[in-house]
Amino acid sequence: MAYQWYPGHMTKAKRMMQEDVKLVDLVIELTDARAPQSGRNPDIDELGKNKFRVILLNKADMADEQQNACWEAYFRAKGLFAAAVNSRTGAGMKRIQNVIMEACQEKIERDRKRGILNRPVRAMVAGIPNVGKSTFINSFAGKACAKTGNKPGVTRGKQWIRLNKSVELLDTPGILWPKIDDPRVGQRLAALGSIRDEIIQTEELSLWVLGFIKKNYPGFLSARYSIAEDADETFLLGEIARVRGCIRTGNEPDYEKAAALLLDDFRSGRIGRITLESAPR
Ligand code: G4P
Repeated sequence: MAYQWYPGHMTKAKRMMQEDVKLVDLVIELTDARAPQSGRNPDIDELGKNKFRVILLNKADMADEQQNACWEAYFRAKGLFAAAVNSRTGAGMKRIQNVIMEACQEKIERDRKRGILNRPVRAMVAGIPNVGKSTFINSFAGKACAKTGNKPGVTRGKQWIRLNKSVELLDTPGILWPKIDDPRVGQRLAALGSIRDEIIQTEELSLWVLGFIKKNYPGFLSARYSIAEDADETFLLGEIARVRGCIRTGNEPDYEKAAALLLDDFRSGRIGRITLESAPR
């Protein structure tokens, strides 16, 4: 199972990002806390190379808490300012403000030495589609000033949101696409719902997700579906179908329906807090 995803507007979005990045001091890169490395775009290092950088592990509420801490430490060890965040509730936004100030300390100092006081840091938010850029902007700005939605690129035009006296945010999320050279990256992103549903083989993907959860988060499946976990993935999917009433005529399990149900449960965090890739040690 190899997922590729090259929408036509990818080049245009990258070009726009190249223009936008010239306007800012700081790039706030959002990635998904449930697959922090797979959810990044390698071009971001090039695009943001002369900028201050912050990396936010968004949707941290659905990821494994222990892994959130490991990933934060991992990115910090690489010299990036990193923090886990839940943009949906806005929890921890004060901390984000501090991380931003920390990341831009050098600029603030430079300005101060030149006698420039209180010049706000100009920042932009970047990340792959659906990672939560618009939600983050709304949350961080404290009011609904960027439209949110499932479709990437709903916000257009160059507008700045003055957050406070120290930060101005470009109200246009920079959209980048994940690079899917490694099939495992594709699998994780598909599992998270970051790849168009039409090209996903739902049943196969659900079997992979089941296998991953069974191995890495024992007890989660039995708690959610009241099923015994010591069986192969196909059998487990059949059990989920049975428990959840996904039955075809002839009393056969409807594997496809059960697969869709499982993926939906996983994506919305109902199976538990799960991270699909461990921080390298
Ligand atoms: P984008 O601009 O990067 O494309 O993403 P967007 O903000 O539209 O967010 C995509 C989905 O992710 C939204 O859900 C949003 O609510 C959800 N989301 C964003 N940040 C977080 C987070 O930190 N935690 C959780 N749990 N969810 C988050 P949706 O189902 O598409 O819309 P809705 O149900 O919120 O209306």
